Amino acid sequence: MLVLKNLKSMRQWRSEQTTSVALVPTMGNLHEGHLSLVKKAQTLADKVVVSIFVNPMQFGAGEDLDSYPRTLEQDCRLLSDAGAHAVFTPTVDEVYPRGLEQQTRVEVPGISDILCGASRPGHFTGVATIVCKLFNMAQPDVAVFGEKDFQQLQVIRLMASDLSLPVQVIGAPIQRESSGLAMSSRNGYLSTSQREQASLIYQQLCWVKQHLSSASKATSLCRQASQQLSQHGFAVDYFEVRNAKDLTPASNDATEWVVLAAAKLGSTRLIDNLRVANQ
Ligand code: PAJ
Repeated sequence: MLVLKNLKSMRQWRSEQTTSVALVPTMGNLHEGHLSLVKKAQTLADKVVVSIFVNPMQFGAGEDLDSYPRTLEQDCRLLSDAGAHAVFTPTVDEVYPRGLEQQTRVEVPGISDILCGASRPGHFTGVATIVCKLFNMAQPDVAVFGEKDFQQLQVIRLMASDLSLPVQVIGAPIQRESSGLAMSSRNGYLSTSQREQASLIYQQLCWVKQHLSSASKATSLCRQASQQLSQHGFAVDYFEVRNAKDLTPASNDATEWVVLAAAKLGSTRLIDNLRVANQ
C-alpha cells in the first residue's frame, strides 16, 4: 500500500490509474466501521484510496480537535491488511495554506442548520468544504460514506449534486458493537461503565422504531426515549424522527423515516440513527 503524504504524490498516483478509483474519506483512528467502507469501496471500483485527515475546519471552539485520536501507524497497518491500495495523509498546512479564516467555503444551506448543525454551527460547512477539496484532490469516480453520520451523508450528496461534481456518492450501513453501540472513534473517550451505558441510545432507537406506526406518534415516542436517556445520565441534544429522504419533519406520505439521536455522556458526544420503513 502506498502512503501519499502530499497533494503532489496524490495527483501523481491518480494520473497513473487507468481504471476506476474509489475514495473513502476518514479522520483516522480506524475501526471496523471504517474498514467496512473500504470493503464496500472495493466492490465499486478497481482501486481504493483512503484519506486520513483530522479536519480542523469542522471542529467548533471547545470541541475535541486537539485530543482527537491520531493513530497513523496502526491505521496504515489496518488499511494494508484490508487491501487498500493507497492512503492519502495531507498536512493541515497543505490543505489550508491561507489559514482557515481565508479559506473558500462550501455551504449547503438548510440541511446544515438542523439536528447536529443546530448545536454545531459551521460544522457541516467544514465537512462540505473538506470533502469537496478531497474530491478535487483525489478525483475519485466514487466515494463511500457511512450512514452512521446520516446527516453528513445527506449534506455531501446535496453538495455533490448542487456543484455537479463527477463523483458517485455511496452510503454504507452502520457497524455496531455486539451491545448495539455504533462504532465510533469517539467511543475511545468512554470509560468501561460509560461504554456499557452508551448502548442505551441504540436500545431507545429500536424501541421507537418498534412503536412507530404513524408519523403522529413520533413526538411522543421521542419524548419518552429522550427521558429514558436523561434518566440514565445522558444530556440529550436531540431525539427525532425525520423523513429519510431529505430530513424534513416526519410525515405519513414518506416511504421511509429515520430516527436520529445525539446525546452527551460525560463530555463525549455520541450520535446514532435507525431507518424505519413506513408500512
Ligand atoms: P470519520 O468520523 O473518521 O468517519 C469516516 C467515515 O466512516 C464516515 O463516512 C463515517 O460515516 C464512517 N463511519 C464512522 N463510524 C461508522 C460505523 N460505525 N459504521 C459505518 N460507517 C462509519 O466522518 C468523518 O470522519 C469526517 O466528517 C469526514 C467525512 C472524513 C470529513 O472530514
